[in-house]
Amino acid sequence: MSDKKASNAMWGGRFASGPAAIMEAINASIDFDKKLYAQDIRGSIAHSEMLAETGIIATEDQEKIAHGLNTILKEIESGAFEFSTKLEDIHMNVEARLAELIGSAAGRLHTARSRNDQVAVDFRLWVKDELFRVADALKGLIEAFLVRAEEHAATVTPGFTHMQTAQPVTFGHHCMAYVEMFSRDLSRVRDAIERMDESPLGSAALAGTGFPIDRFRTAKALGFREPTRNSLDSVSDRDFALEFLSIAAICATHLSRLAEEIVIWSTPQFGFVRLSDSFSTGSSIMPQKKNPDAAELVRAKTGRVNGHLIGLLTVMKGLPLAYSKDMQEDKEAVFDAAETLDLMLAAMTGMVGDMTINEAAMKKAAGSGYSTATDLADWLVRTLNLPFRDAHHVTGRAVALAESKKVGLEKLALEDLQSIHAGITEDVFSVLSVQNSVKSRTSFGGTAPAEVRRQIRYWKKRIAKA
Ligand code: ARG
Repeated sequence: MSDKKASNAMWGGRFASGPAAIMEAINASIDFDKKLYAQDIRGSIAHSEMLAETGIIATEDQEKIAHGLNTILKEIESGAFEFSTKLEDIHMNVEARLAELIGSAAGRLHTARSRNDQVAVDFRLWVKDELFRVADALKGLIEAFLVRAEEHAATVTPGFTHMQTAQPVTFGHHCMAYVEMFSRDLSRVRDAIERMDESPLGSAALAGTGFPIDRFRTAKALGFREPTRNSLDSVSDRDFALEFLSIAAICATHLSRLAEEIVIWSTPQFGFVRLSDSFSTGSSIMPQKKNPDAAELVRAKTGRVNGHLIGLLTVMKGLPLAYSKDMQEDKEAVFDAAETLDLMLAAMTGMVGDMTINEAAMKKAAGSGYSTATDLADWLVRTLNLPFRDAHHVTGRAVALAESKKVGLEKLALEDLQSIHAGITEDVFSVLSVQNSVKSRTSFGGTAPAEVRRQIRYWKKRIAKA
């Protein structure tokens, strides 16, 4: 079957109307970029006002344009607007409808503008709004952690390294570790907003324009600090989208670590936390089960967000200046990452806020695994002036002895300890309890309840202003 018709049928099968339909399908972005309708209309109104003010178009035409655009906004918001794939994208859908509504004056809107700077400004406006949403969500999550940290500033729990019991810490300290993590995410959001706060509108197709436009005027009207400084860069730059995705990926990665801890903590074996019914599900076959589905899904959705970052980096890689249609692929990645991250943050904030903390289980686990061995070694250094390496050795022998007797360090008899090192006195027992262990760790940033409370006070003040 080598005739033309047959091979055509090979690739044309899905497309009843042939190559033109395939072109339309690959080219059109309206299905996803209609999300930019509000930004597109806002940008167009600002542009038209500037065109009228600088005398590039007549005031009557501008009034018609603004009125028409506001009508379109209402049509879209009420669901009455008919989007057409034939018109490719949101920009042309809006402009075509404007022509239907106001006639020839609509044709003046695109003076001194191109879809290249138009899409760049629309998308920046959208990403900027989303970054503000993420900042609010992060603040909510941080505040939820601050509440838990305050409640549990003195609750002892095991601290792990290599997922092996290491030293006792307070649960408040553990919560504050997440406050640090999410505060860094928040500061990345603020940095990114600051950096992207420039308007590309008026860069036109790539070279700027000969019309006497006022880019400072449109930048200000759209809430940007100032206009961008290079028209070529303006229409080819998607750093703001890449930065959003990298912030999202790092934040999602943080959320996945928290999600994993919640999954572990809520196992019957750990039993450190109990998730509320709103954030867990039962099993259809095993009645005893309560599954941490929301946490598992947060853990999993990180893959999606991280994937979008790599996806867009790969789209942008090797693109020559200035605009290329490749860049149309930026939107779905950002929209999906944004929607996913918003949901992940909301789910985690909910879980952190209403999980029940089992202090008894945490305390019991905190005392197991010879978690105060380092305290014993430190006591030997402090009180008997042993070099740390010798103290480490003595402590190792004490742990071995306790292990052979199947008891905790604090349950060894003084004589047992003295058989290992004659200098040990009764005073050693003051450091062998988990409570005293955490209390002693008062170094800046340490786990002592007093220190944790100091850090909480610091972050409460900072978050109020962040
Ligand atoms: N839909 C396009 C995009 O998202 C708009 C810009 C099109 N520009 C062009 N010269 N074809 O990138």
